[in-house]
Amino acid sequence: MRTHPCGVITRDQLDTTVTFCGWVHRRRDHGGVIFIDLRDHTGLVQVVFDPDRAATFARAEDVRNEFVLRITGKVRHRPPGTVNPDMTTGEVEVLGYELEILNRAATPPFQLDDNNVSEEHRLRYRYIDMRRPEMQQRMRLRARVVRQLRAALDNDGFIEVDTPILTRATPEGARDYLVPSRNHPGEFYALPQSPQLFKQLLMMGGIDRYYQVARCFRDEDLRADRQPEFSQLDIEMSFIDEDTIMDTMESMMKRLFRDVLDVDLGDSAAFPRMSYTDAMTNYGSDKPDLRNPLVLTELSDLVQGVDFKVFAEPAQNPAGRVAALRVPGGNSLTRKEIDGFTEFVGRYGARGLAYIKCNDIAAGPPGLQSPIVKFFPADVLAAIIERTAAVDGDLIFFGADKAAVVEAALGALRVEVGERMGMVEDGWRPLWVVDFPMFEYDDREKRWQALHHPFTAPHVESIEDWQKQLDEDPGRILSRAYDLVLNGSEVGGGSIRIHSSELQQKALDVLGVDEQEASDKFGFLLEALKYGAPPHGGIAFGLDRLVMLMCGADSIRDVMAFPKTQSASCLLTSAPSAVSERQLKDLHLRTRARTTGSDA
Ligand code: AMO
Ligand code: AMP
Repeated sequence: MRTHPCGVITRDQLDTTVTFCGWVHRRRDHGGVIFIDLRDHTGLVQVVFDPDRAATFARAEDVRNEFVLRITGKVRHRPPGTVNPDMTTGEVEVLGYELEILNRAATPPFQLDDNNVSEEHRLRYRYIDMRRPEMQQRMRLRARVVRQLRAALDNDGFIEVDTPILTRATPEGARDYLVPSRNHPGEFYALPQSPQLFKQLLMMGGIDRYYQVARCFRDEDLRADRQPEFSQLDIEMSFIDEDTIMDTMESMMKRLFRDVLDVDLGDSAAFPRMSYTDAMTNYGSDKPDLRNPLVLTELSDLVQGVDFKVFAEPAQNPAGRVAALRVPGGNSLTRKEIDGFTEFVGRYGARGLAYIKCNDIAAGPPGLQSPIVKFFPADVLAAIIERTAAVDGDLIFFGADKAAVVEAALGALRVEVGERMGMVEDGWRPLWVVDFPMFEYDDREKRWQALHHPFTAPHVESIEDWQKQLDEDPGRILSRAYDLVLNGSEVGGGSIRIHSSELQQKALDVLGVDEQEASDKFGFLLEALKYGAPPHGGIAFGLDRLVMLMCGADSIRDVMAFPKTQSASCLLTSAPSAVSERQLKDLHLRTRARTTGSDA
């Protein structure tokens, strides 16, 4: 149907006859001649119709935006003064000989170059939204990323294996999406939260190096970087340790960034590694953005004796913490801005946000503007200034509470202040976060939970060592997990796995999963571990998140063809939707919403 795509028609085709297809981007009537900009995914080309060819001209008069056309014409120079240097095709235009309307279009619900269209509207008409160059570029970059990753892994001896979508629950910390079974009344499949257990079984099956571009399903609260259905680049390897995995993944990432973005992630240097404890202590986050220069300073030991309960109590409590965030040049913040930040940290549970404005440090307390300096003896004040390395013109924020609250609040404040004050540098700052705790205590549920997932290996020498560490404090056992963090986003996470059936059962015990429950839910895994399971480990990358970062998009939805909204619905197809009584009956289901009304 065509000799060329629209966007490649240049001087190279001068004086030749070309045929191309696409959508009408714009049509202009110019005193007797008609201009049509025709668009496809490669770009725009300008076509001119003059009244000499009466029938073609009449058809050109008839077309409207988004009509689908096939045009044949001759390439010629644009007249002087009308050249557009910003367009690949900007030096030429096509004198239209023939115009075929392949399809008409109703008036589009929005103009493609209108930047003020709501996201709801764009998602409702995603197939039109997708015609925008920005969306085209993102979809194509995504495809290049996947192609490049597959090629790199194939080259490294990995093989791609599909794992089931209709399966049993795989715990990754979210709710499951369930699918009722017609053949087994009252029973359900779960959609996988990840292929975790299957990829471990593949290692037991001798696959050795596996990968998959895998769909994962998690019914959890959605945010800008989370979708209920998303893709992972899922990887597992046998006979390896942490270093082998991290090195292999690092070179894969470096190659990806070089080939796709022409970015050097530090070709010779290894990605830095940071312990979970250091990340929380210094950045208040397990995924610190190292482009942001702000860091937290520990003050607990300095303020234990001060006559200000708000600080002294958490400073004395082993589970408490007092920390500072020095903001260089923060003196310029107004009272209103500080109140705004106080409200901001309140969302993370902080009960206040004390501060010191360093107007004139040498002058002592009179030079320090603050609601709290009156509580501090001169030596403590001097020590705070020294430890935070504050200079005149700076502002120091303080957090005092349970360690988790201080870290959440000051960690978020660090990101907010860094962004608002334009302190975040350009570039790419990958890092590995390692040495996570194996378990964290859930205060509400009153039980231990796995920080990664229950199949992650602990840092222990032996079963005896495990028992010893467990008796001391389950909260201090470290796991062999690692996360890849890029510019403050967790793009991947994985671990070395438990490959002993006995240790796996013991780890499940700590989580309150007794033998009966373990055998009901994961019996197949515990059994497989008894038949010669190799030491193994792996990782999964959030493909959508990675592409989002690589595109510079603000939301994961911008790099997915058909994403869901915050409330997990698809505006285009109106999923989820009600189903017929008949279908429900086949599935042995009755919905409480219909039969019992409001108390459903
Ligand atoms: P994890 O749960 O950390 O690990 O997931 C791996 C990566 O997947 C991405 N991700 C998401 N992306 C979009 N929407 C979501 N709802 C979402 N949830 C997670 C993140 C994350 O780093 N089975 C383990 C991996 C392993 O141990 O090998 C797992 O799924 O970028
Ligand atoms: P108050 O004595 O309650 O008026 O508090 C004095 C200052 O300490 C105010 O600026 C509060 O915002 C701040 N503040 C109160 N509680 C905390 C806390 N838990 N952490 C940090 N600052 C706090």
